Amino acid sequence: MAAHKKPGQWNKETIIIVGLMCVVFLWTLNRVELENKPQEETADKIEKTQDEAKQVVEKALVPLATGKEPIDKIFVQSGCAACHMIPGIRVAKDREGPKLELGTNARRRLADPNYHGNAKTEWEYVQESILNPGAYIVQGYPDRVMPRWYGQKLTAGALDKIITYLLKIEEVP
Ligand code: HEC
Repeated sequence: MAAHKKPGQWNKETIIIVGLMCVVFLWTLNRVELENKPQEETADKIEKTQDEAKQVVEKALVPLATGKEPIDKIFVQSGCAACHMIPGIRVAKDREGPKLELGTNARRRLADPNYHGNAKTEWEYVQESILNPGAYIVQGYPDRVMPRWYGQKLTAGALDKIITYLLKIEEVP
């Protein structure tokens, strides 16, 4: 029995020692991993944040149209045609916004007693409608649907072309 017991004890000791070595080994491994991991994660995070910032900055800075495009392209690229029916622009369908007939309507808006914007001329009215849509809400249409950021997204050239085009559109009775 004793002869059997000894190897048994010896085995237990071996198991404990091996077990301890394993624990120490795993602990060391864990330490090494911990030391490397945060740096990797931080680097990843910084890269991600930079990517996101880049996207935001790029999106905000790139104009929707340079103004050199043909007028129909400007209307489509700027999204106007998605909400407005614009006579002469093939894809423009009537959706959320009023039909754009500013050759007739700019005058009417300025004469409306409900008009409290800053425009004095028809040109200014159209410009204001695009850059500050909240200045006057066309009756029967919702406020805050037309984007408010066109001032940052349209070049002066594109804006001029848009206004010139829109002021030429008379209402067809
Ligand atoms: C998401 C939909 C939407 C988009 C995109 C949009 N608009 Fe509008 N727009 C509206 C709505 C709704 C109104 C009416 C409410 C108001 O007066 O703000 C309006 C009003 C206007 C008016 C005044 C019309 C009038 O008869 O007095 C003009 C001009 C105009 N938009 C031009 C544009 C131009 C140019 C673009 C593109 C650069 C554009 N809109 C993009 C929804 C939109």
